[in-house]
Amino acid sequence: MDSNQQPQKTMIENDFFLCRMTDLEELQAIELTIEERKLFAIRQDNQLYAYWNSCPHMGIPLNWMPEKFLDLDGVLLQCSSHGALFQISNGECVGGPCVGDRLTPVTLKQDGDQYFIAANQPLPAALVNLRAAALRDFD
Ligand code: FES
Repeated sequence: MDSNQQPQKTMIENDFFLCRMTDLEELQAIELTIEERKLFAIRQDNQLYAYWNSCPHMGIPLNWMPEKFLDLDGVLLQCSSHGALFQISNGECVGGPCVGDRLTPVTLKQDGDQYFIAANQPLPAALVNLRAAALRDFD
């Protein structure tokens, strides 16, 4: 790390507004980036479930299209890289290369209809940017 770089944060220090429940239709997802870490939340049965957007198979984001996380049946979360399927309610992988693993949940805080990413929870490791790493090797 050069002297201009700040050490990476390991905790969320403040609540971050995510959305109102009424902003989302049933099974609609929303994405947010905090400290360069991506997360998503999805509404199901008037509950909001949030996970860090990192597939346990290879540690890369699940989706290729913004806010598109569902399988063709619209029942499970699906990783677009190798097709792993996850329960919305608990993040458990029920099909694909990482069966039994889980998405890492994000703790939410509710205030009426408003939902926040709760402060004082750990940030996951930053995603590896393979392209940036490769370009650095040419410097
Ligand atoms: S990276 Fe998600 S299934 Fe392979």
